[in-house]
Amino acid sequence: MSFLPPSDRPASQPPGAMPHQPGMPLPVRRLRDLPGPRQWPIVGNALQVQLDKVHQNVEGWVKHYGPMLHVRLGGFPLLVISDHELIATLLRDRPEGFRRPSRMQEIMSEMGIQDGVFVAEGEHWARQRRMVMASFAPGQVRAYLPALLGVAARLRTRWARAAGLGQSIELQPELMRFTVDAIAGLAFGTEVNTIESDEDVIQRHLDQIFPTIWRRSHAIVRYWKWFKLPRDRALDRSVKAVNVAIRGFMGDARLRLQDPARRAAPPNLLEAMIVAADEPGSGMSDDDVVGNVFTMLLAGEDTTATSLSWMIYLMSRNPHTLQRARQEVDSTLGDLQNWTADDLGKLDYLEACIHESMRIKPVGPFNVVQALKDTVVGDVRIRAGTSVVMVMRHDTLRDDTFPQADCFMPERWLDEATQLAPHHAKRVSMPFGAGPRICPGRYLALLEIKLVAAMLLQHFDITSVDTPDGGEADEHMALTMVPVGLKMRLKLRA
Ligand code: HEM
Repeated sequence: MSFLPPSDRPASQPPGAMPHQPGMPLPVRRLRDLPGPRQWPIVGNALQVQLDKVHQNVEGWVKHYGPMLHVRLGGFPLLVISDHELIATLLRDRPEGFRRPSRMQEIMSEMGIQDGVFVAEGEHWARQRRMVMASFAPGQVRAYLPALLGVAARLRTRWARAAGLGQSIELQPELMRFTVDAIAGLAFGTEVNTIESDEDVIQRHLDQIFPTIWRRSHAIVRYWKWFKLPRDRALDRSVKAVNVAIRGFMGDARLRLQDPARRAAPPNLLEAMIVAADEPGSGMSDDDVVGNVFTMLLAGEDTTATSLSWMIYLMSRNPHTLQRARQEVDSTLGDLQNWTADDLGKLDYLEACIHESMRIKPVGPFNVVQALKDTVVGDVRIRAGTSVVMVMRHDTLRDDTFPQADCFMPERWLDEATQLAPHHAKRVSMPFGAGPRICPGRYLALLEIKLVAAMLLQHFDITSVDTPDGGEADEHMALTMVPVGLKMRLKLRA
């Protein structure tokens, strides 16, 4: 299969090529014919990337070499692309044409984590995706709201205490407490409370697991296959403990699901997945449910907390947006315990703030797929197994697509300011991915973000959000692109 970009894009033509004649197929280039940073023997470009800044390294290359380039990391050739239409075409051609990189699946399975929907492929992925989607249906997500409101109320109490004592709040870890309690509570089907106590043992195990996945995915030498350091043995113990705990939670959930009313409207992710797996013909086993509980914890905690951190940071740098969002919250919402999904759905400006901050600070600034067969991407031929790095934050920061692209202007997502964004803005900015593997948790994530932001605006004044050196927030890439060291000070509203 070939993915030809529109023929009027000179940037995708080989240098020095004859002008393209309408109706004629574009000449096909080889990967190694593409421009790109100079490659060194054996290591290729590996020494030119810094793991925690890899997204900025690649974005810099795209600016310099254009929308398609060739990079090599050790023995692995990579095609890098930044055109949003071409990216969307590849993302849509899954699971048949492209897969997630096989390395991630190998690493997780080596660690003892069952395949979940994030790493599964082919028919196995399709079956898992059906089960997971049932637990994220809009009506289902609404059923999770009471649990989420309880978690938001606990966070309000904690922040009120910090405001009263004049203490600063470390933004990212603090928001992680919220998302951990929210997602772990839904995924385990039982209350998890790290906001009021530091005693959540499972979270301590998960804190070991997240960084190891990132480190091992990028390790040049996979030493742990031959010998284990103390930290690798600790990791094995952590994975085992979480697996045992999840099976325990599943046993409890199955007992609760003997109640037919509960089976008809499961109040958490775990029970919703069990119900979907129990459907005749689902092809899902208990192992699949365990793998997906793990997946929800991995995919749903950092991503949502980080998106919230970036949004609060950007809004605090643009105080008029805080003011407008607060007016909207004040005129729409009553007491927190009575908020409904419909009320939150009316917060259009706040939602625009979310889209705008994800355009400028997507937590996944790049995504990677691997070709399942020999194919042509744009006008470039690649072999089966070649990885394609898709730079998600390039077209989103172009002034010709989003005027004054560097400025945080939430109104560009509202009907009142259509000149500030293209009509297909949501097809250019894709913070949740696209195609059949688009993030299934996106509505839940939006709900959580709105919930915390609305609680913050309703009850507090943000006095400051400071970076460690007083400059712009630094971006640190691990599994997500996290702002470094933000501290927030709050005052209770008069
Ligand atoms: C603001 C928060 C979030 C962001 C920015 C985000 C972003 C993403 C992105 C970029 C992908 C890859 C999509 C693709 O390949 O096309 C993804 C996949 C996924 N996300 Fe999210 N996500 C968020 C929250 C969540 C939450 C809350 C959950 C679940 C509790 C979740 C579960 C998943 C799963 C299971 C996948 C894999 C889907 C598949 O491969 O079929 N995410 N997410």
